[in-house]
Amino acid sequence: MFETLTAAPPDKILSLSVAFRADNRPEKMDLGVGVYKDSTGATVIMKAVREAEKRLYDSQTTKTYLGMGGDDGFNKAMLKMVFGADGDYARLFAGQTAGGTGALRTLAELLARARPDATVWLSDPTWANHFPILKAAGLNTTTYPYFDAATGKVKFDAMLEGLKAAKAGDIVLLHGCCHNPTGANLTIEQWDKVADLLVAQNLFPFVDLAYQGFGDGLEDDCAPTRLLAKKVPEMAIATSCSKNFSVYRDRVGCAMLLCKDADAVKIAGSQLLMMTRTMYSMPPDHAAAAVRIILEDEALTANWKAELEEMRLRMLNLRKGFAEALRRYSNSDRFDFIAEHRGMFSRLGITEAQVDRLREEYGIYMVGDSRFNVAGLKEDRLDELAKAVVSVL
Ligand code: LMR
Repeated sequence: MFETLTAAPPDKILSLSVAFRADNRPEKMDLGVGVYKDSTGATVIMKAVREAEKRLYDSQTTKTYLGMGGDDGFNKAMLKMVFGADGDYARLFAGQTAGGTGALRTLAELLARARPDATVWLSDPTWANHFPILKAAGLNTTTYPYFDAATGKVKFDAMLEGLKAAKAGDIVLLHGCCHNPTGANLTIEQWDKVADLLVAQNLFPFVDLAYQGFGDGLEDDCAPTRLLAKKVPEMAIATSCSKNFSVYRDRVGCAMLLCKDADAVKIAGSQLLMMTRTMYSMPPDHAAAAVRIILEDEALTANWKAELEEMRLRMLNLRKGFAEALRRYSNSDRFDFIAEHRGMFSRLGITEAQVDRLREEYGIYMVGDSRFNVAGLKEDRLDELAKAVVSVL
């Protein structure tokens, strides 16, 4: 059977963690996979999550199946977290998934079933796993211009121009906040223009919202999604609790749909759940239940929000400190963009060979396209890191 196969190439992001663990150098730095770490380098369990897990342990009396859509209370709370007080809830559907990737994949399957000829337009660059996920669902992919490596900014005019080539019914994948891998995001005015273009050309927005709360704050990070929802007739949103609740390995996300009306919600929602049924039947429960317990309890929510905000502010400070250190050591403003970007990632804009040298000579691990995880930086090692980066330029 398996003689027909060749070994799969290692995953460019996940394999970095394996290589990092195997590295014996004490001074090594992990700026690879997108996992939040505190100033000691630990990925701690958030206090509210810990408390919710305790309550779950004390109150849960059965492990019998939930439905294909998971925990109803979780789904409701997630919709509220994304769409706030004035969401058009009669037109919205949510189904719990196995992580943000599970949400992307089930939504991609649904879109492929609804419109098999559609092409999905992805930003250049985008999160590396977007391509294989969409392809596995049978969708065609292509790219629109997005990031200007020379300035570290979004090429907005080129983006709009590129999207003009999309045909009616095509799908445009947009990063709701904290663009991965560049950290360069659209302004709200630019989002407004994108929304108008989507409507004018009858394009379908597919929003990947994996980092809510890591950019400008829990509410502000949803502003683009809410703006789109006010203008477009239909859209899909993939959310994740991996980062903002720090429950990575427990795999919790949510696939959401905005439909034309309540009847369409019934049809599309039932088909979405059927995608889950044929892939993994239903999502894992544990951390989704913990997230629901948090979001249904005012005090726990406040505690979670405060800890999340601490994480966000720490990343902003690290961005500032790293940009300043690079300015000092490189004697240039080449890296100032790092302080302007938002979220977990930015791209240094160095070559793959230079990334290799950082790993080989200094034990500094980042993705080959020079994407680094801001949360992997350490306050007291920014100078050391900046010096190393400048030494390989
Ligand atoms: C990342 O981009 O590093 C994370 O989202 C982890 C992953 O699944 O790639």
